[in-house]
Amino acid sequence: MKRLLIKNGKVVSPADGLNEELDILVAEGRIEKIGSGLEDKEAEVIDAIGKVVTPGLIDMHVHLREPGFEHKETIKTGTEAAAAGGFTSVACMPNTNPVIDNSSIVDSVIKKAEFEGKVNLFPIGSITKGLEGEELSEIGSMKEAGIVGISDDGETVMNSELMRLALEYVTAFDLPVISHAEDQVLSGDGVVNEGYYSTVTGLDPIPAAAEDIIVARDIRLAELTGAPLHIAHVSTKRAVELVRDAKERGLEVTAEATPHHFTLTDEAVISFDTNTKVNPPLRSEEDVAAIKEGLADGTIDVIATDHAPHAFEEKNVEYDDAPFGISGLETALPLVITELVKPGIISLEEAVEKLTSNPAEVLNSDVGRLKEGSRADITVLDLDEEYEVDVDKFYSKGKNSPFDGFRLSGRPKVTIVDGKVVMKDNKVL
Ligand code: DOR
Repeated sequence: MKRLLIKNGKVVSPADGLNEELDILVAEGRIEKIGSGLEDKEAEVIDAIGKVVTPGLIDMHVHLREPGFEHKETIKTGTEAAAAGGFTSVACMPNTNPVIDNSSIVDSVIKKAEFEGKVNLFPIGSITKGLEGEELSEIGSMKEAGIVGISDDGETVMNSELMRLALEYVTAFDLPVISHAEDQVLSGDGVVNEGYYSTVTGLDPIPAAAEDIIVARDIRLAELTGAPLHIAHVSTKRAVELVRDAKERGLEVTAEATPHHFTLTDEAVISFDTNTKVNPPLRSEEDVAAIKEGLADGTIDVIATDHAPHAFEEKNVEYDDAPFGISGLETALPLVITELVKPGIISLEEAVEKLTSNPAEVLNSDVGRLKEGSRADITVLDLDEEYEVDVDKFYSKGKNSPFDGFRLSGRPKVTIVDGKVVMKDNKVL
């Protein structure tokens, strides 16, 4: 295996106390040394001068669609998109067909990723069998097979007793329960946020209360059971306040926000572009401001994409008929830098934590750190490169992005997984 020497980059890994110009020597898939003026005649040198070097980015919320929906995405194309986006690890949601609700499907996803995956893949198992909300999945055996959390993402476990049981059950397994918080009776057939823009477009509304109610319920159940609860894709002001309050009360509650929810408001739906249709929906200006505040004060621990690729034909229909979802892996980091870091809403160090050590901690994983001896998952990024998003250049099969044509600054330049360069200069190798 080739040795790598990443030279003269600004190494930023707050969880490891690193924030200075350093070299990193990689050998046999591990970080051999971090220091100044390192030399190694046999190593391939990666010149990181003027660039930032971080632990490999982790996206704890992606939909890779395999098995069952390979026309939308596969483990191969989804992990290529991850590598292109600077991610070295992704955790994939179980709403596949069949659903990831037992250990043999977990095994098959892990094996497929070993053969075809460009980055590390950590499966998330479903909470309920078939995502039907009626009976718990085989959580213990899925944990043995390698899941890192459980979620019915895309669906809410509407039965509070079953959600309580799931939370009680995981306390024995060190697994977070990841909540898709949406009262699905209240959201009904809604497709956009309830407010001014649902009125002017005439599109069916989803009230913010649909999210707030389930966030409140799940926090109360986490309190009752003492279980770790992670709230997926927080999008409302009240949900941020509820998570903040839960943290202040010492509960083991964490939360994530997506780049589309901190970048766009529901004004975007006025275009009737189905690439703005996502669940939870794009929210009001006030909600977006609250998400940014939650990111800044640490209420929101993690930035995750909810990468939800769909085929062109599926999105190229009436707004009501299109599936929910945004293809997010290849625009996440540039949006974090452009929308949060450059305007000073969060620091670069905070952004790195929310994309590396914080999601690793939620998933109880040893990735996301830069330490001598740790696995060599590393991302090199250019904070200042400006470019225009072109969905036709996505590695993902899902070209469904509302950010097509956006000018962004900040770009991943090299992605290294297990000591191997898998992306360089925006080309997946
Ligand atoms: O927009 C979304 N798409 N939200 C979800 O929760 C599920 C996802 C999907 O699977 O397409």
